[in-house]
Amino acid sequence: MTVMGFIDENKQQHLEELKEFLRIPSISTVPQYQPEVQHAAQWLADHLRTTGMQHIDVVPTPLHPLVYAESPRQDGRPTVLVYGHYDVQPAEPLELWSSPPFEPEVRDGNLYGRGTADDKGQLHTHLKALEALQTFYGRLPLNVKILIEGEEEVGSKSLWQFVRDNQSRLASDALVLSDTSMLAPGVPSLTCALRGLNYYEVEVTGPARDLHSGLYGGAVPNPLTILARALAQFHDKNFRVTVPGFYRDVARLSAAERKALRALPWDETDFRNNVGAPALSGEKGYSILEQIWCRPTFELNGLWGGYIQDGAKTVIPSKAYAKFSTRLVPNQDPDEIATMVEAHFRKLLPNTVSCRFTVLSTGKPWIASSTHPIVQAAATALEQGFGQKTVFIREGGSIPFVAEISALYKIPCVLMGFGLPDENAHAPDEHISLDNYFGGIRSAALFYERLSTLQGEPQ
Ligand code: BES
Ligand code: MN
Ligand code: MN
Repeated sequence: MTVMGFIDENKQQHLEELKEFLRIPSISTVPQYQPEVQHAAQWLADHLRTTGMQHIDVVPTPLHPLVYAESPRQDGRPTVLVYGHYDVQPAEPLELWSSPPFEPEVRDGNLYGRGTADDKGQLHTHLKALEALQTFYGRLPLNVKILIEGEEEVGSKSLWQFVRDNQSRLASDALVLSDTSMLAPGVPSLTCALRGLNYYEVEVTGPARDLHSGLYGGAVPNPLTILARALAQFHDKNFRVTVPGFYRDVARLSAAERKALRALPWDETDFRNNVGAPALSGEKGYSILEQIWCRPTFELNGLWGGYIQDGAKTVIPSKAYAKFSTRLVPNQDPDEIATMVEAHFRKLLPNTVSCRFTVLSTGKPWIASSTHPIVQAAATALEQGFGQKTVFIREGGSIPFVAEISALYKIPCVLMGFGLPDENAHAPDEHISLDNYFGGIRSAALFYERLSTLQGEPQ
């Protein structure tokens, strides 16, 4: 029996175990799910026992618990820090799911359910890879520290505190995680850049209370109209963001980088069809991959106020609200961008309204080279696990933890994603391809084996 043989023989058990994990609705945003979130943390702690971990803790925090575990220390072996998140996004709108979000189901080679791709399914591949190594060798071939949080989808606040309090305990030679996507089906991918994310919320107030639009309309400022007009001015006709200074620190793409992006096995027509809009729009002068991976954006995420129920109500609302965000790229600074965005927004408002501007969260962009031996070891492992050549990609999504860890410890970060961009993360009918889930388990095990043969630094 080999490690790969063990993984293949236990496919069905692995899938059943993952389904059990997925049945726990660990929705971190909604307070009433707190017991379920706790349950998911405990489930993980219980299921880490077979992976060769010695110390396993469910660490209480002001919000949702962290799960932290360490394998028995073996001197002279490298140390890897494995990260993941067990919390999931709310499942609404429920009526758009083909099967209930927390009753996982296999259809057409995919496993459907909330958290299958983001991130329970991807995280589970690492548990099963470690379990296979532990079972086969009787001990893990390297030092493993596992840190799994329950607040990723709500800003990772408790995680930061834990990292600050345990800086030396978490020191490692590399960070590895699976919480990103593959470029296309069957194409193993390593992500070498992520965008950062700032998230904002505004409340614009006009009249002191709601007013009859017949008795007052014409003389009174309407905060909804004013807010809509301000937000409409955040892009120019070329879809460039109009915030002064926004592009000041953006790293320019070299000719070689642009060429490498063009050479990737990526199908523009698939992307267009998957989006399903009559046509695409994006910043002029850049390809689609450049637009979504390498360029910063301003995105309106929610806009509300006034009357939105059935029928008509003639009202001038007192208040109007919006949520919007900026994706950031190297070398933009999240705090500086937040200041610029607020100043621009306030400047666009007339003095007939007042405004409360809140920055809900900030997160740095991250970029790394693909030449580090540990990243190369991961590329080889993925190639073996999937039987195809590994590609190095960037991604438009954000995992602020990666930028923080890479800056704090100056270690390589291996982002081996097993999701696909059209697997509906955060949306109805989220799913993961079973081929990628099982290929993920194989690749992770092969990666840990390879990593164990590289020289570790004393921790
Ligand atoms: N796993 C995603 C991020 C992701 C997905 C990165 C696919 C690259 C490819 C993560 O769970 C997520 O949803 N992140 C949020 C930001 C976070 C701070 C709430 C995002 O990117 O919007
Ligand atoms: Mn995720
Ligand atoms: Mn997510």
